[in-house]
Amino acid sequence: MKIVLATRNKHKVEEIKQILEIYLDPNLYSQLEILDISNFPWVPEIEEDGKTFAENALKKARVIHELTGLCSIADDSGIEVDFLNGEPGIYSARYAGERATDYENNEKLLRLLDGVPIEKRTATFRCVLAYVDGRVEKIFEGATKGKVIFEPRGMGGFGYDPLFVPDGYELTYAEMPKDLKNRISHRSKALQKFAEFLRAHLEYKNKF
Ligand code: IMP
Repeated sequence: MKIVLATRNKHKVEEIKQILEIYLDPNLYSQLEILDISNFPWVPEIEEDGKTFAENALKKARVIHELTGLCSIADDSGIEVDFLNGEPGIYSARYAGERATDYENNEKLLRLLDGVPIEKRTATFRCVLAYVDGRVEKIFEGATKGKVIFEPRGMGGFGYDPLFVPDGYELTYAEMPKDLKNRISHRSKALQKFAEFLRAHLEYKNKF
């Protein structure tokens, strides 16, 4: 079974593959051929003009399914900071501007939280996955709560990872071994639900 990940973000592709390997049994995982947009270089940029993670994820998955004819999964994700009334949220990738780097986005977030004490720096990382195969459309969500610290720490991961310490841990996402982030993250929780769905969906399909 071929599945196209509707993203150009290499970090997301890598994490999604590693997480699916955790939640799918080896036999099922080996039946999947996981592709991404880099396998379809002619696919144009998809504008993320939705008002929610779910709208954006569904749009990306639908477009990629229509263009490739294959099953598609899209991940729309970001960090919601309580002190900033949920910002940057769906604008996480472009918080400091259209083509902003992770460094610039992190800088902006730290600037807006300047002087805010740790107990008020609560945040939620959210991931919404959309699956579209032409007959079925499904949404899976995952969220992980934590805090935005005062300075970046750690070299792993991507995006806001160096600033986010999940509740119950001392390390930022960027300081954790990959395997730990992949077991507790917002993306992991959404993909765990997707993996359950896929298992049941394939069992059903194999019966007929
Ligand atoms: P999207 O491609 O529009 O879904 O943007 C996702 C953005 O949210 C990324 O560019 C990151 O800034 C942020 N983000 C999402 N998931 C993560 C994560 O696991 N770690 C760090 N940042 C993330």
